[in-house]
Amino acid sequence: MVYRENNNIYVKTSEKTYPIILSSDFAKTIIDFYKENLFPRVAVIVTNRTIFRLWRSKIDRLSSLIGAEIVFVPDSEKAKSLETYDKLVNSLAHYDERKSSLAVIAIGGGVVGDLAGFAAGTYRRGIPIIQVPTTLLAQIDSSIGGKTAINLQAGKNLIGVYHQPDCVVLDMRFLSTLKEENLKEGLAEGIKYGVIRSPALFSMLEEVADMDQIDWPSFVGECAAIKARVVSRDEKESRGLRYILNFGHTIGHAIEVATDNRISHGIAVAIGMVKATEIACRLGICRHTTLVRLLRLLDKFSLPSDIKMDASQKRRFWRALMRDKKFSSGKMKFILPVRIGAVRVVDNITRDMIRI
Ligand SMILES: NC(=O)c1ccc[n+]([C@@H]2O[C@H](COP(=O)([O-])OP(=O)(O)OC[C@H]3O[C@@H](n4cnc5c(N)ncnc54)[C@H](O)[C@@H]3O)[C@@H](O)[C@H]2O)c1
Ligand SMILES: [Zn+2]
Repeated sequence: MVYRENNNIYVKTSEKTYPIILSSDFAKTIIDFYKENLFPRVAVIVTNRTIFRLWRSKIDRLSSLIGAEIVFVPDSEKAKSLETYDKLVNSLAHYDERKSSLAVIAIGGGVVGDLAGFAAGTYRRGIPIIQVPTTLLAQIDSSIGGKTAINLQAGKNLIGVYHQPDCVVLDMRFLSTLKEENLKEGLAEGIKYGVIRSPALFSMLEEVADMDQIDWPSFVGECAAIKARVVSRDEKESRGLRYILNFGHTIGHAIEVATDNRISHGIAVAIGMVKATEIACRLGICRHTTLVRLLRLLDKFSLPSDIKMDASQKRRFWRALMRDKKFSSGKMKFILPVRIGAVRVVDNITRDMIRI
């Protein structure tokens, strides 16, 4: 269950109820929350040097006021490795002066959040964590829902646990230092929430002239609430509801694989959403106007709607798609839009229905 109170979003899970706090000063918000809920635990801030350089004075203030230690992890997807995990949990053990008396504060994008979340979820079978997502994608997606993971050579996110945060702090000021590509990637995920669940969110984006005009606190708050509502009704992906979050991701993931991740996740998802909507139009599930509205919105934010792949990339695309776990006996499960704000699971999509 999810409810709003005093401008916060509360997520009730089987484990605990935690707040998602929209803050204009993350350091102050964390200090207040920490003192009230987690003190006298020893706090360990996990971040990377890119974020630290940009937000040093705030992080230093936070660290000195709650006496937190700071642990740095590398800045790249490679940080989600067994090696970095090993170093991180050993740092936790080093600072763990009193038994079970640690708490983690993860300040960073999805990489820091997933890694620190996995460390917090497994160290002593689980210690508290405050998630402070600093990218748009992390604010509206990865920090909410309790999914944590690291990568193996064999594939991404293969080792992980569900570990719900004690608190998620969303501070829009982080977006001011983000690179435009990162902002656009997050926006693509936000458009996804509009298509699957919220005509109002979609219209909010249709009404602005460009990215500068977006009312970020409302946009981020609405996206975070949608993610929280979906995951709190299907915490461990047992009921299929969480599956709707995969809209645009089936084809998107195959594009990422086919292009060796040269096409980034958000961009691939934007193209994947268009391809899925085209399939829905061809099947008569949704009207052409839905596709036109999606194309217009992506175009406004300079997000692509198509991709040209060479023959070898196409081969890899199909191979990746066929290997996807949603593919069985020549048929595939897709999330297709019915209209803006509503989607349907269709499980008999065949290869010839997918045009790339
Ligand atoms: N757990 C989940 O449910 C879930 C969901 C979606 C994605 N993910 C994971 O999230 C990861 C991607 O996350 P991401 O897109 O945030 O990438 P990221 O964490 O790599 O961040 C992108 C870049 O932006 C930098 N950065 C972060 N905040 C910044 C700021 N405020 N200003 C300037 N630079 C900043 C980072 O240092 C990094 O270089 C992937 O590993 C993916 O698997 C997890
Ligand atoms: Zn995604």
